[in-house]
Amino acid sequence: MKWLESAPHRYDAGMRLITFGAVEPMRREAASRAVPRQGVRVLEIGCGTGAVTQLLVDKKADVVGIDENPEMLEQAATRLADADSSTLRLCEQTASEIDRFPAGEFDSVVASMALSEMSSAERSFVLRAAGRLLKPTGVLVLADEVRPRRSLSRLLAALFRGPQVLLAWIIAGSVSHPIADLGAEMEAAGFSVTSERRWLFGTLAVLVGERSP
Ligand SMILES: C[S@@+](CC[C@H](N)C(=O)[O-])C[C@H]1O[C@@H](n2cnc3c(N)ncnc32)[C@H](O)[C@@H]1O
Repeated sequence: MKWLESAPHRYDAGMRLITFGAVEPMRREAASRAVPRQGVRVLEIGCGTGAVTQLLVDKKADVVGIDENPEMLEQAATRLADADSSTLRLCEQTASEIDRFPAGEFDSVVASMALSEMSSAERSFVLRAAGRLLKPTGVLVLADEVRPRRSLSRLLAALFRGPQVLLAWIIAGSVSHPIADLGAEMEAAGFSVTSERRWLFGTLAVLVGERSP
């Protein structure tokens, strides 16, 4: 959804509109999978305006949110102004720098709608680096735009995508790129996919992965 980021103050409303609200249950699922109990340490990649970050903080996680876009981060900082600064850190940082964090530092690494904005080479790097940052029992939680698997879902998604792409071009002159097979990319990076849920004709998904033995 890179096109919406050209207007960060309209990003949240825009996301709800073009996903017919499906982004909300997707985010809630991602946050509850990333924070199974209070006090877990979470790295959020591409935190944007902080919609998922807020849910993580509400669940009493200890969160580091990174994003390369300072304007999106500014919106996140405003949204999370009341959060306890000892349990929330927002950093302007690109995902390709996450290997600067110590190995085994996090219980969860979560990314919502961020990986689909990266090249497949960057995604591959980020997924492998995420594996190193996780504790042995840690989980990787990815929420993103994906290609539907079933033929009927593909047909419905294609019908829905036309107006969505048109709207994107009108507003910002660019479109998003759903990930063809996120599960396969996770497995190639050393994760076993333990669960997957989908919304909106199978075009939005949350996949949870654990490090393969
Ligand atoms: C579509 S927004 C999603 C924001 C938020 N996670 C959500 O679910 O609403 C994608 C965010 O990922 C960030 N992003 C994309 N590629 C990134 C990268 N390589 N490093 C850091 N942030 C990145 C963008 O700046 C943007 O804020």
